[in-house]
Amino acid sequence: MERTKLVRISSITKKLVVALLGAFLLLFLLFHMCANLCVLREDDGAWYSAFCHFMGSNIFVKVAEVVLLAVLLLHIVISLLLQVGNHKARPVGYHERSRTRTAKGSKLAMWTGILLLAFLIMHFFQFYFVKIGLVEGSYMTKVESVYTEPVVSLQQAHRQLSVSAEEFVSRYEQELPSMAGQYSEVDYQRMQENIAELRRVVPVVSLLDSAMNEKTMITKDGKWLRHLTVQDKAMLKAAIDDIDVEPDFYFQARNLFKNPIMVCLYILAFVVLWLHMRHAFESAFQTLGLNNYKYSRAIEVIGIIYAWLICLGFAAVPIYVLLFV
Ligand code: HEM
Repeated sequence: MERTKLVRISSITKKLVVALLGAFLLLFLLFHMCANLCVLREDDGAWYSAFCHFMGSNIFVKVAEVVLLAVLLLHIVISLLLQVGNHKARPVGYHERSRTRTAKGSKLAMWTGILLLAFLIMHFFQFYFVKIGLVEGSYMTKVESVYTEPVVSLQQAHRQLSVSAEEFVSRYEQELPSMAGQYSEVDYQRMQENIAELRRVVPVVSLLDSAMNEKTMITKDGKWLRHLTVQDKAMLKAAIDDIDVEPDFYFQARNLFKNPIMVCLYILAFVVLWLHMRHAFESAFQTLGLNNYKYSRAIEVIGIIYAWLICLGFAAVPIYVLLFV
């Protein structure tokens, strides 16, 4: 008896936690959808890149991101535990199939939830895992952080002599030993350090010389060097201390949605998301005790509008990119 009571209490608590976490996720989706709409702007990524930069560099956002992922994980794990608990409590099932909307809805929520999890795994491989360095992507960095003192000196010097950066540094390295007698030990050592610094930034200057035009873009908060490969990223990190090279999600999103198969997969995911949210919205209100006879119709309508708003907002990005970019 005591045990049954405990199990019942804990499953109600679980439902409450799932509802609260779900409500948090519903708000996140609104935020995520609104941010994504910046991809639609024909501004060469100015707004979206500025937004992604803020998301990647602000400490509060970083903490919020960890909270979000924890919430997402807990929402999934506790929902699955609830389903397993329900199944254990009634392994054979009733003779008559449940015809109540709530029972049907929660079954649908479980299946749509599993499909959404599959979508999220794919989605993370395409975006989030690039950010945390698990998967290769396309990158960008602020132009001002690339133009360090040695980079500027080498660029000016090799242009003055009309030779490549590599050739300039090689010549300098070859001539240096013959100058040993002409300078004091301290000056000679400084020259050696100087040439070592220039050698370190040769690939950076070569990259700037070869790709500056097609790789730059101007945003509200300055110039960005973009379309960088994972090799460019590694090279920049090796050559320049503390440089911030971040994913170029504007380019990645627009590239991804040029592929009709990807667009179809995403649209399918939004349909599944719509179904999941339709149940989730009402169910969260009910579990939290905020749904009663008087307001249930209003909550249902708001739930439907919210689900359409989110899903159409998300769908606008892949459809626009496929048809108009
Ligand atoms: C057009 C559709 C979508 C695009 C273009 C898109 C794009 C992105 C991008 C670029 C990121 C990485 C952002 C960053 O970390 O700075 C991201 C992360 C994420 N996305 Fe999406 N997304 C889309 C739809 C969705 C949907 C439908 C869901 C949920 C069902 C979702 C859930 C997430 C989550 C949980 C993260 C990780 C958390 C975060 O980094 O903020 N996304 N998405």
